Amino acid sequence: MTVAAINLYLVGFMGTGKSTVGRQLAKQMDFQFIDSDHEIERGQGKPVSAIFAEEGEARFRELEREFIERGHPEHGCVVACGGGLVVPPGMLELLRGRGVVICLHAPIEAILERIMHTTHRPLLQVEDPAKRLRELYAQREELYRKTGTMVLTDNRPLREIAAHVLRVYRQEAAQFKR
Ligand code: S3P
Repeated sequence: MTVAAINLYLVGFMGTGKSTVGRQLAKQMDFQFIDSDHEIERGQGKPVSAIFAEEGEARFRELEREFIERGHPEHGCVVACGGGLVVPPGMLELLRGRGVVICLHAPIEAILERIMHTTHRPLLQVEDPAKRLRELYAQREELYRKTGTMVLTDNRPLREIAAHVLRVYRQEAAQFKR
């Protein structure tokens, strides 16, 4: 395995830009771009919101684990991970065994602005989505900080964010041991 083919996993809270940054990086690295939510939706034939509504969040978390364990290629991909994918115990270790993990980060106010008015996220389908987002952000912040190098995505042009992530990826991929 060449260093260049080690998978890159982008983690971080909803609305931090994992898909946008991931797509851009995949182009630059000539890797395949994969979005965990989309792959799960494709496999299940329904949107994430329907999986949550019909089968519950715990089932969705199982699907995320299956996707990481055996649902994507072992090398040559940039994977944008759903925001909660790293939360269940053991998931971060699993990701780290498979590639370089980099966390995208943005302040809660920027996240609120970006995603408050989107409608496809099941966790925000509550009476007060801003309150829910703040609670989740507070609950998960420490965990995200432990995931790996954090790259700030707020108020920075995409090409600068992508260049920053790529620098970190190259350093960490060179030291990566399976
Ligand atoms: C979730 C984040 C979503 C999606 C699901 C749950 C979470 O992905 O997986 O709605 O628990 O934070 P994005 O981070 O791509 O929005």
